Amino acid sequence: MACDSKHPQCKIGPSILNADLSDLHSACIKMLDSGADYLHLDVMDGHFVPNLTFGHPVVKCLRPKVPKAFFDMHMMVANPESWVEPMADAGACQYTFHLEATNNVPHLARKIREAGMKVGIGIKPGTPVEDVLPHVEQADMILIMTVEPGFGGQKFMADMMPKVRTLRKAYPMLDIEVDGGVSLETIQACAEAGANMIVSGSAVVKAQDPKSVITKLRSSVDKALHSAD
Ligand code: DX5
Ligand code: ZN
Repeated sequence: MACDSKHPQCKIGPSILNADLSDLHSACIKMLDSGADYLHLDVMDGHFVPNLTFGHPVVKCLRPKVPKAFFDMHMMVANPESWVEPMADAGACQYTFHLEATNNVPHLARKIREAGMKVGIGIKPGTPVEDVLPHVEQADMILIMTVEPGFGGQKFMADMMPKVRTLRKAYPMLDIEVDGGVSLETIQACAEAGANMIVSGSAVVKAQDPKSVITKLRSSVDKALHSAD
């Protein structure tokens, strides 16, 4: 089912964190050819999370290879203010920072918009949803982490679903993203809670048939979004 004015649109964004990063270009093409709506790119700095991935130079190299792809940058970094311009220049489309990493959300959100990107705000499992509620109007998307950020392939935390429900109840059209351990086993919980932007890493990237996994993820979400029609 396509986008309409009554429901937010379901979008599936594979995380390429667990793909073969020596051939990131092919991994991205494969996901897009399999029906991905966007690509979720995990940036880790070794400070905000205990792991390292890649930064804007890699994004800049990737951009011309997949010119039309929507890049959702999941910035698991301390000082997210520092990378707004470099990421915009590299071709990022959405800059998703962590609420826990800044003490001036309005300023950072404005800076991201001025740089021409959409604003995403993420919260870690330990952060109550109430902390992000005052900032929803400054954001295009709210990310509810369903694992502790830092690594792919972790177990989905179903106890994060009440956060999604609270947000969906308050904001029927908001883009709400879930990230971490989302697979065919756990998508139903996300869909029923009201998530519409679905990040899935290992479950899609490591699948024999990523297209079929993406199709099934989408159909669960579409069904839940339209259940009250
Ligand atoms: C975790 C990352 C996620 C992760 C998703 O810190 O933000 O995007 O890579 O991968 P899976 O779906 O394997 O948990
Ligand atoms: Zn992520």
